[in-house]
Amino acid sequence: MSHVPNDTTLARDAAMLQDAAGGPIDVGIILGSGLSDALTQLATFTSISYEKLGLPVAALAGHAGEALVGTVGGKRVVAFAGRVHMYQGFSAQDVTVNVTLSNLAGAKALILTNAAGALNPAFAPGQLMLIEDHINLTGANPLVASGLENPFVDMARCYSPRLRHIARQVPGGDALVEGVYLALLGPSYETAAEGRYLRGVGADAVGMSTVLETILARSKAMEVLGISLITNAVGAEETTHAEVTAVAKSAATRLSAIIAGVLASM
Ligand code: HPA
Repeated sequence: MSHVPNDTTLARDAAMLQDAAGGPIDVGIILGSGLSDALTQLATFTSISYEKLGLPVAALAGHAGEALVGTVGGKRVVAFAGRVHMYQGFSAQDVTVNVTLSNLAGAKALILTNAAGALNPAFAPGQLMLIEDHINLTGANPLVASGLENPFVDMARCYSPRLRHIARQVPGGDALVEGVYLALLGPSYETAAEGRYLRGVGADAVGMSTVLETILARSKAMEVLGISLITNAVGAEETTHAEVTAVAKSAATRLSAIIAGVLASM
């Protein structure tokens, strides 16, 4: 069963977001696990629940379900706090509906954040990684049966070199590392052998989101910035959801500051 709202509902939602923002949305932001609290310290936001918008919801600790509408760095933004994931049984269309809605509300740019496990041995928990490219091993794609006249979307430089350049310049941006994000279906974390394999195919970090949103955003010619918060090292020792969420929360303020800096200069 599809959880994607119909076109009428999406048009109503887009109007609701624009009303709350006082004009067309400039940038959509999707917040990963444990990353929503820090953003709300940057500005005053109007919260609209996913229920009210008719968006798919999933109950999991650390994943709220609200669209936060406000102005940061002179840009009207909608920040989605709470993602649904394919590992919860949602489709590629379901997990990317926030991208569709952001774009309908006017957004020409999208900032994606996530929590990820490090494959690159030089990366440590708490570090922020600018996503320079991705590897989609989820087995899914939001453009399947999308009805697009041209579904063969170009994915070269899908993470905007312009926005990455800006991110490195803003206060705190010099601490960003850069790398390739690889997405799997999940929800189990990787075995040590899988970690070695994924490192071998060219990935620096692994997670369970983001790539499908990037694909859909590129099909709409949106500029994409992706930032992974490294929460653990894959294969090193035990990985728990509680650990992932705790590390994410501890770095959320740094991530929000970078997002605010990018919004002000993009
Ligand atoms: N693997 C996959 N997804 C993740 C991880 C991980 O180690 N950490 C946070 N999200």
